[in-house]
Amino acid sequence: MTFEALLRAAPPPLAARWLGSQRIDLAECGSTNDEAGRLARAGARHGTVVIAESQRSGRGRDGRVWQSPKGGLYLSAVLRPTIPLVSVPPMTLAIGIGLCDAARTFGAPAVLKWPNDLLVEDRKLAGVLVEAQSQGQRLDAVVVGIGVNLDTLPEQVSETAISLTEAAGTLIDRELFIAQLLARVERWIERYVGVGLEAIIPAWQERMATGLAARATVDGAPLTGEVTGLDLDGALLLRDEAGQIHRVRSGDVEVIRPSVSPSL
Ligand code: BTN
Repeated sequence: MTFEALLRAAPPPLAARWLGSQRIDLAECGSTNDEAGRLARAGARHGTVVIAESQRSGRGRDGRVWQSPKGGLYLSAVLRPTIPLVSVPPMTLAIGIGLCDAARTFGAPAVLKWPNDLLVEDRKLAGVLVEAQSQGQRLDAVVVGIGVNLDTLPEQVSETAISLTEAAGTLIDRELFIAQLLARVERWIERYVGVGLEAIIPAWQERMATGLAARATVDGAPLTGEVTGLDLDGALLLRDEAGQIHRVRSGDVEVIRPSVSPSL
């Protein structure tokens, strides 16, 4: 192993202070987000983390299945931030930055794809699923789920996904990665809760995948445009063929490579 590879395999220590201060390790579960959700309802404290070696029913955004065999990292955290309920969805952006930085620390050239994907060369390395527990408008807890393809790839996504080992070009120690991930995600959660989205958006845009397009529905009409960045509230900004900028929100939009769309 070269000196550079050694450095990448063992980045400088950086410790989380509260994220993971309580940690539950499971060989297998249905979904760590469900486990963390149960713990949150039972009063688990801010920063409690659940990690599983495999999940039977891992889930992603929009009800998609998150294939979760052994060899991946499946981690969920219970947070009790003092933010309004409407501020929960953009927290995904802050978590993504921490996740991206953790992967880059180990040499993976990772970039962010709105709203919750981490990519390496168009292949998915990791994803974030943020869920809120609330009573009316009062936020009780946030469950932050992070799935990372660490050593192996689920067969079903072998064409479209990439493992951290492949992206970094070296085997990554699972515990070293978890330590980096918790420390970096903690830092960005603190920034988001303490300062707000204005501290997150420039950092997210710096790490954003370039050259992407998106298909969206705006005021009931289909639109395809070039991704130009984020608006002040975290909405995605698209430029159409006429040069006009449109705001689109999660749920109405699919981010794609321009080659997928003949019109761009
Ligand atoms: C996505 O890309 O759509 C989000 C994927 C999130 C997967 C993680 S794995 C840990 C946690 N438990 C789940 O069931 N989902 C999240």
